[in-house]
Amino acid sequence: MSQDDFLPIRGYDHVEFFVGNAKQAAHFYDRVFGFKPIAKLGLETGVRDRASYVMEQGKVRFVLTSALCPDHEIARHCALHGDGVKAIGLEVGDVESAMREAKSRGASIVQPAEAFEDENGAIKTGIIRYAGDTVFKFVERGNYRGTFAPGYVPLDAKGSESVGLAAIDHIVTNVDLGEMDYWARWYERILGFSQLTHFTDEDISTEYSALMSKVMENGSGKCKFPINEPAEGRKKSQIDEYLDFYQGPGVQHVAMNTADICKTVRELRDRDIDFLRVPDTYYEELAERVGPIDEDFDELRDLGVLVDRDEDGYLLQIFTQPVQDRPTLFFEVIERHGSRGFGVGNFKALFVSLEREQDRRGNL
Ligand code: FE2
Repeated sequence: MSQDDFLPIRGYDHVEFFVGNAKQAAHFYDRVFGFKPIAKLGLETGVRDRASYVMEQGKVRFVLTSALCPDHEIARHCALHGDGVKAIGLEVGDVESAMREAKSRGASIVQPAEAFEDENGAIKTGIIRYAGDTVFKFVERGNYRGTFAPGYVPLDAKGSESVGLAAIDHIVTNVDLGEMDYWARWYERILGFSQLTHFTDEDISTEYSALMSKVMENGSGKCKFPINEPAEGRKKSQIDEYLDFYQGPGVQHVAMNTADICKTVRELRDRDIDFLRVPDTYYEELAERVGPIDEDFDELRDLGVLVDRDEDGYLLQIFTQPVQDRPTLFFEVIERHGSRGFGVGNFKALFVSLEREQDRRGNL
């Protein structure tokens, strides 16, 4: 598989969010989600138009960026979409090659391969357009010795205690009705990904609404990108609600791995994170459905953690409520025990819960 991988990807490098107030967002990701602020740029570092904070936990790196003036791409992005994911950073060994391959296959170039330098060395980046206003950013770190990237100064903040988030597991995009296939083929054509699996509206439907999903993964299987599109239903689907409030396609959720989901969820709950809650009836036949697992069923029920099993093993997962006022971006916490799936067995229960929330917002 790796032999004909024309765009080898080492893994997720970072996710950059455009937000209304990066300073306050950094505080939230630190105090609530357990990320440590490691670097920043802004007025103090000679950057006049924006401020960015780099937050780290395990291998997960988030960059939170705000504009410092109104007539700015970042400010316009926030006005249109609200807070959300702007860039998905992927680490590659050779940005020039990645950009050349992507361009020759029809990628729309936002920023050609470019080197950025300081006394700690250089990193190279290149950016291509993805769905809506979202972009993919290729990052070649080479032997760069500084914190994150040239222009950033390291922060000596203590940060709150980690909640155990270890790595990004997958990143999900919502696209417009009828566009899932286009984007699945885009991943194949531009990035050399292949389709791992797909879910039809039969798998993912409730009495009211439905969605379809295709999961794309890169050659090494390290990066997984499910793509959702709304399907026809009696009422408005959760994907439509997202598309309405995000004003178009964009990242719906970022899933992060933990080695101990009960500990992570308990910690997040203590820090006032609200999770999507499935009805207690979900737990009534759970033990029969998933068989023996290492965790205690009572504890899972208490925390609202979901379980699914497939031929390779099982997984535990839970979803936060949206992390901004618009019902757009949210997070998933996932613990895998062999399963490489996405919890298809939980979809129905989850979507009934999601619709209940949607209804409360007056959007069903
Ligand atoms: Fe997910």
